[in-house]
Amino acid sequence: MPNLKHKIAPFMRALGLSIALLLISACDDAPQVNGEVLSKFDGEKVASSSGNFDLSIWPELPIKPKEASVETKIQEIIAGMTLEQKVAQLIQPEIRDVTVEDMRRYGFGSYLNGGGAFPNNNKHATPQDWVALAEAMYQASVDDTLDGSSIPTIWGTDAVHGHNNVIGATLFPHNIGLGATNNPALIEEIAGATAREVMATGIDWVFAPTVAVVRDDRWGRTYEGYSEDPEIVRAYSAAIVKGLQGGYGESNFLDDDHVISTVKHFLGDGGTQDGVDQGNNIASEQDLFDLHAQGYVGGLSAGSQTVMASFNSWHGKKMHGHKYLLTDVLKDKMGFDGFVVGDWLGHGQIKGCSNQGCSQAINAGLDVFMAPSDAWKPLLFNTIAQVKSGEISESRINDAVSRVLRVKIRAGVFDKPSPANRALSGKLEIIGAPEHRAIARRAVRESLVLLKNNAQLLPLNPNQRVLVAGDAADNIGKQSGGWTITWQGTGNKNNDFPGGTSIFQGIEHWVSEAGGVAELSVNGDYQQKPDVAIVVFGEEPYAEGNGDIATLEYQAGNKRDLALLKKLQARGIPVVSVFISGRPLWVNPELNASDAFVAAWLPGSEGIGVADVLFRAPDGTVRYDFTGRLSFSWPARPDQTVLNRGDENYAPLLPYGFGLRYGEPSTFADNLSELRVPMPHQKAVTERVLFRKSVQLPLTGMAGRVTELQEMSSNVLEVAGLKIRTLDRELQEDARLLEFTGGDAVYALTADQPMDLTNTFGDSAVLRMQIRIGEISDSDVTLSMLCGVNCNGSVNLAPQLRALPRHEWQSIQVALSCFSEAGANLTKIDVPFQLRSRGKLELSFSEIVITNSESAISCN
Ligand code: BGC
Ligand code: BGC
Repeated sequence: MPNLKHKIAPFMRALGLSIALLLISACDDAPQVNGEVLSKFDGEKVASSSGNFDLSIWPELPIKPKEASVETKIQEIIAGMTLEQKVAQLIQPEIRDVTVEDMRRYGFGSYLNGGGAFPNNNKHATPQDWVALAEAMYQASVDDTLDGSSIPTIWGTDAVHGHNNVIGATLFPHNIGLGATNNPALIEEIAGATAREVMATGIDWVFAPTVAVVRDDRWGRTYEGYSEDPEIVRAYSAAIVKGLQGGYGESNFLDDDHVISTVKHFLGDGGTQDGVDQGNNIASEQDLFDLHAQGYVGGLSAGSQTVMASFNSWHGKKMHGHKYLLTDVLKDKMGFDGFVVGDWLGHGQIKGCSNQGCSQAINAGLDVFMAPSDAWKPLLFNTIAQVKSGEISESRINDAVSRVLRVKIRAGVFDKPSPANRALSGKLEIIGAPEHRAIARRAVRESLVLLKNNAQLLPLNPNQRVLVAGDAADNIGKQSGGWTITWQGTGNKNNDFPGGTSIFQGIEHWVSEAGGVAELSVNGDYQQKPDVAIVVFGEEPYAEGNGDIATLEYQAGNKRDLALLKKLQARGIPVVSVFISGRPLWVNPELNASDAFVAAWLPGSEGIGVADVLFRAPDGTVRYDFTGRLSFSWPARPDQTVLNRGDENYAPLLPYGFGLRYGEPSTFADNLSELRVPMPHQKAVTERVLFRKSVQLPLTGMAGRVTELQEMSSNVLEVAGLKIRTLDRELQEDARLLEFTGGDAVYALTADQPMDLTNTFGDSAVLRMQIRIGEISDSDVTLSMLCGVNCNGSVNLAPQLRALPRHEWQSIQVALSCFSEAGANLTKIDVPFQLRSRGKLELSFSEIVITNSESAISCN
């Protein structure tokens, strides 16, 4: 019998308690405000305009004066609006949690689809489905029968590297790759193409560009930034805003071909300590301007109509509640007269606020709450009540609404036809149009940075035997990174990218055309010895905080790609590495084991752009030389996490601006230091996380029949006998619900290399899970650890699970010794978690970790 302790603690943990309270208030329809509590808990240092700030640092931007006709129209509209209608303009729900009928009832000013949210929850929604939803929402917003309002709503989406939520759209390289092209004119073209693809789906507004100046490359959003240096960011921000919106003050401004843009995330997102997503930026005010605000100088001067507030804090104060920066600096001094939209429930992170109520944010200068989940409804009522009670002034509300209306009037939404009837709507040929793909392919070519080219191995002759290896070679999902169809960019297959090409497909195209042979083999085993190998490998997709890392060392835990490079070199095959990554990483061992090395970043759907550069034309001429230059310094050591142009003692492996061209010699030999430096503040390992918010790399979530498991993605999933859904426990999508339907199915977390659990964990090690049980039949439920052929240990959890209270989160743990006693070899576990049920079972989990138990533990 396993030692299975369960602790029912939801009411004892402070965290649990506050969540329980939030849920209670979220369920209640009635207006409710607790002004006292909200303000009492705001223990943050007050940032008032009279604080130690220096407004003189901030410039007045060349923003055009307001037009009298627009202002008159705003005043007329506002004069006829009720308080409820006004507040509704300031609430932005998300399509997974708001219906067309809600829109008719409340008349929201805007709504969004988050990353991986599609019309009808269908990943394969067609462009017509997108237009149909846009049309229905618009019609509901202008229908005044229930709410008395006929102000058209607008839809915002994260088209951050092309219209990336839509199947078939052109996916451009992520911003880090665009930074390497150092070509603002190209950026403008990309933005123009993106705007057209977005317009074809009836959407009005794009949450881009991200203008973060990324200082610590451990940050999971490094790839969303163009550069570590403000120079490129400022120029690009202007170019992309112009491409998205049209020329500021020109006749094409926000015309039929253009969308509203958002410069984000204001302010300092790229400069948080230790590169922690949503963390704290402690730059001086001068540095905040000189480094982090340059994208706003570029983007707002080019007329961007919206700004998104950032999740991060500046000196401990959350930006969503930062009156000095949002109001005094951005609006009053710099002159921004559009509106500030919040980030995903970002207001709820301000001290004293919750997702359901936050006068502090509005009072600080936030204009629109991004309110996904079911938070929108209590937030709407609470905000109305806060205005009634005087906690938010009527004039602040009027200002916020004026800003929303100003943008809508400028964008012509009052005069334009409805979404389905706009010039580009539903034009299928625009989505993934060949001319857009041609721009993306060019961007891929220009983004590649050649780091090493021994003996001028590149460019390659196409008329030879080329082995193409590595798990990113034929994987459009992996080469596209996060924010690709799904939020994390995981769970996509090549056929989710109709019209796109993998890097292998591009190579094969040029090689076979020239009479050569390209052989694809992920693990590098070949039929016939090749003349050269191209190995395409790198980071798995991730987005936001899920991509935060502790060290810049590539594959710190397991150098399996290095092993592949060495295996090929040992056979006398010249090796070209093509490295897919969202940031520069310490790859000295991989560089040593490569004859040529290309940083390809996250090229997106047009993988063929890589082969365009790697291969000569059949007549021997060079088609395209490398022109990409590093917009991020490349580290010489894994602990050079904050390594930026202009640093004192700047000692990168390759400096900002580096990039070889054909004919130029490598700047280092094959003997770079391979010394693995421990990270200064790397903590002793006390736990091995298998699942927290998501399946932790390098594990993979698999499900199906025990003999035929399939890889799972981050969205809704179904295999024979098992349905898997993502759930929100404390954060968005931080939990999973497994519904075993009674046909003997398995859910497993598998590692690609065996792990030695005895290394870090002693006799008191346990597998600890946060779970919640719903329906459970009386069949066995086995939990196993597997260790290769005929090696496993299983325990039957069914009796204990059945004894648990239903529908409540609890922590349960199983001693690892239970698995070893049952036959598992803990030194070589390749499946640390496998749950199998032959009967019906509804089990949710939010965390699975291996850790040392505080109390003595045994298996009896
Ligand atoms: C991100 C934003 C994004 C928003 C909507 C947030 O978590 O920080 O960049 O625009 O989600 O998906
Ligand atoms: C959502 C994404 C969203 C992200 C923002 C996730 O839970 O699925 O759509 O963009 O949160 O943080």
